[in-house]
Amino acid sequence: MKELDFYNNIANWDFSKIKYETEKITNWDMYEEVAKYTDNNSFCLDLGTGGGEKVLKKYPEVGMIIATDFSQEMINTAKSNLKARKKIKFAKMNNLKINFPNEIFNLVSARHTIINAKEIYRVLEKGGIVVIQGVDKEDCIELKDIFKRGQAYNDEKAISQIDYEDLINSGFEIVKNVKIKENEYFKTKEDLLALLFKTPILDDFSEVKIKHKRIHIENDLLEKYIKDNITEKGILLKRRLYGIVARKK
Ligand SMILES: C[S@@+](CC[C@H](N)C(=O)[O-])C[C@H]1O[C@@H](n2cnc3c(N)ncnc32)[C@H](O)[C@@H]1O
Repeated sequence: MKELDFYNNIANWDFSKIKYETEKITNWDMYEEVAKYTDNNSFCLDLGTGGGEKVLKKYPEVGMIIATDFSQEMINTAKSNLKARKKIKFAKMNNLKINFPNEIFNLVSARHTIINAKEIYRVLEKGGIVVIQGVDKEDCIELKDIFKRGQAYNDEKAISQIDYEDLINSGFEIVKNVKIKENEYFKTKEDLLALLFKTPILDDFSEVKIKHKRIHIENDLLEKYIKDNITEKGILLKRRLYGIVARKK
């Protein structure tokens, strides 16, 4: 419920106003993977789509995309973001209980959101593909180590491992399993703060004050992080993600 409040409150997943550059270290692009397994006739489901920012810009041309999110506010934003793109429908739905019949999708995608591997298996056709990208336990670990808290900081098992095992236990064959490294360089302290206020990188959902958007972040710790990580390109934040491609056997 707190997580739903968090996303309803934010209502978009748009980072375009934050000034930062991304340097890709690993050769992985989730939407290139989607493109490999789809064509103009493919019927695709995108889970936890947010305000549709990524799906609208980055998804390849396919037959139809059903893009879903459990936050009505996110879906409202997605519908207002919808401009030229035609073959896409947005709908409210919980990823954990997919409201579609068995074996109707050719591909399911999920970027930075929770999944239920059994439900994905159920709605995919035989031979159908799931493409996942997620935020790993080690993401921004240099920052979390200074603050001694953050997203997944105290998890015993990494979410990447949980997803991987859930997919295998649900009957999927793993096609690709990638640890993704990216460096982000933030132009100013304010740009880094804007990211931290918007995402749960430092704060578990239980610590987010929903009504007061500005979360308390200890300035002395942040200054220490900036001092240790300032580079010519900006303030470095090391991102650690994971990507999985799996096939329904
Ligand atoms: C970090 S955002 C990612 C948005 C988008 N996929 C992207 O990569 O830009 C996570 C999204 O997942 C949604 N979400 C979280 N838990 C969900 C659930 N159980 N069912 C459906 N959507 C969920 C949130 O509302 C939010 O929009």
